[in-house]
Amino acid sequence: MLKRITVLVLASFITLSLTACGTKEQPVKSSNLSASFGLFKSEQFTPTDVCVTCHVELHSQWSGSMHNNAFRDPVFQKVYQFAVEDTDGDRVVEDFCIVCHSPVGFMSGEIPPPDGSKLSEIAKNGVQCDLCHTVSASTGIGNFALKASPGNTKRAQFKDAVSPYHETEFSGLHTTAEFCGMCHNVNHPVNNLSLEKTYTEWKEGPYAKEGIQCQDCHMTPGPGVTKPNPGKAAIMGPDRPHIYTHSIVGGNVAVPTLLGSAEHARLAEERLKSAATVEILPLTKFKPGTENTLQVKVTNKGAGHYLPTGLTETRQMWLQIKVTDGTGKTHFSSGGLNKDGSIEKNSIVYNTVAADETGKATHKVWRAEKILSDYRIPPRQSVTEKYQASIPNGAKGPFTVSAMLRYRSAPQGLIHELFGEEEVQLPITDMAGDSIVVK
Ligand code: HEC
Ligand code: HEC
Ligand code: HEC
Ligand code: HEC
Ligand code: HEC
Repeated sequence: MLKRITVLVLASFITLSLTACGTKEQPVKSSNLSASFGLFKSEQFTPTDVCVTCHVELHSQWSGSMHNNAFRDPVFQKVYQFAVEDTDGDRVVEDFCIVCHSPVGFMSGEIPPPDGSKLSEIAKNGVQCDLCHTVSASTGIGNFALKASPGNTKRAQFKDAVSPYHETEFSGLHTTAEFCGMCHNVNHPVNNLSLEKTYTEWKEGPYAKEGIQCQDCHMTPGPGVTKPNPGKAAIMGPDRPHIYTHSIVGGNVAVPTLLGSAEHARLAEERLKSAATVEILPLTKFKPGTENTLQVKVTNKGAGHYLPTGLTETRQMWLQIKVTDGTGKTHFSSGGLNKDGSIEKNSIVYNTVAADETGKATHKVWRAEKILSDYRIPPRQSVTEKYQASIPNGAKGPFTVSAMLRYRSAPQGLIHELFGEEEVQLPITDMAGDSIVVK
């Protein structure tokens, strides 16, 4: 597969979308990609320090968000540089990774070189104000399927906005999940394998049917649908019945922490804690000296897509179960952490495992040829996990059975591989738990 990648030039994105017809996912209009490379100069986009003069609050919410961080993100940087080396500086991989993580860098042709040394400030600001607000149309779903129209007209949901600095225009697109879907479905640029499909998961789930958009959850002050949020869109603007917030957090607690935005880390934690419920089902029997069946029900209560979603080849959500006796001694454990930070072998982990061309599991999504397993929880659905806990004869109650659903944005081993000596430790968030005591 790699050989094939190497001989491909960027223009062949166009043919790719035609030849890769065996997929079940949304069609990818990859031709859009090659069409937009080097199409604009970065100066055609207005820097965020202009917008901040009037949109003070929105700017402070956006700074420190994963959209602002998309290119500087140290985890992205390590993986990206690794991908570049691993594919021998192949332009298809190089350009593909950049298109969503530094859209202006891609569209202005300021990448290559992949180290970002030629990038303008605005390109380093990842997904920023002017990129989103000058989009004039979507050209499909996934793989950066958007029409950029940099210029003085800024588009969003208002039909009556007046600004002393720029023209405004109502854009229905900005009010729908299809706007987010332009980037939040990712297909492999060569074999079209679906690597991320948050939009599709939402589209096929109950929230889409009820008309609840990504914005209704992610652009509100807290988890759940917390409309309305009255306020001002600009310091000199009128009072508005509802303003969409711009922190747009997901499950990434690690990167905001690393880059010094405690507020975004806190918001992401809050969001993770709103996503699920965990319930230990009533025990029919529980006896020392026998195998005891424990059942734990995990429900995706608050996420509008699968749980987890996004780059699930890297994300880890797992169940930690423990049975302790009256003296506090542990007799059964699953989902605990080993000394090196890896999860115990017999554990339930919710994620996606991709395989390379030899069929071996890999975190290198650019080498992914197929999906080996995908075990996650669809929106508003539950899974029930079963455990056999053998408790030794003579162990004395009362016994405590506890369950905790935990999340981190990558396996610690992968982080160790990427960061080496730097010793980066990823935070783990306890999302939801339950415990019961049996006599
Ligand atoms: C000199 C002040 C000022 C500057 C600078 C400014 N804006 Fe605005 N902007 C406003 C005002 C005022 C409104 C109208 C607010 C309202 O009606 O509630 C507005 C409205 C908007 C809207 C809503 C458009 C709609 O129709 O829904 C967007 C989007 C927007 N601005 C984006 C930006 C971006 C991106 C930048 C930086 C490139 C920027 N603005 C710079 C003052 C400014
Ligand atoms: C079509 C848009 C798109 C393209 C192309 C894309 N990404 Fe991403 N990437 C995303 C989105 C959206 C997320 C966030 C998903 C999530 O939070 O799980 C993301 C997240 C990531 C993360 C996780 C960062 C973290 O802090 O945990 C890494 C690493 C990453 N991408 C690497 C890559 C690499 C390497 C490539 C090229 C092979 C690539 N991306 C191409 C959209 C894209
Ligand atoms: C990831 C894309 C994205 C980025 C980055 C982004 N916005 Fe927005 N913004 C939106 C969307 C989408 C809406 C409309 C939400 C809706 O109506 O459902 C919006 C709404 C707005 C509005 C209307 C008032 C409101 O908040 O509801 C203004 C003004 C605005 N944005 C300015 C900005 C500024 C200034 C920045 C940078 C500091 C910025 N945006 C960054 C996507 C973005
Ligand atoms: C231009 C492409 C683009 C658009 C449009 C876009 N995003 Fe993103 N988004 C990204 C990228 C790239 C990242 C990942 C940055 C990283 O992890 O390094 C991201 C990250 C996120 C995250 C944080 C993920 C985490 O792990 O915490 C959320 C939540 C999110 N986006 C929601 C949205 C929503 C909601 C919309 C629509 C209003 C939207 N995005 C529109 C490219 C985009
Ligand atoms: C009903 C509310 C709701 C809706 C609708 C919703 N989300 Fe989420 N989203 C959440 C919650 C809660 C989380 C945190 C749990 C998780 O990581 O899945 C989350 C997490 C995320 C993440 C981070 C995933 C990770 O773990 O890396 C991304 C990216 C994201 N959402 C994008 C989107 C996009 C794009 C849409 C629309 C297509 C959308 N969301 C619709 C509630 C929602």
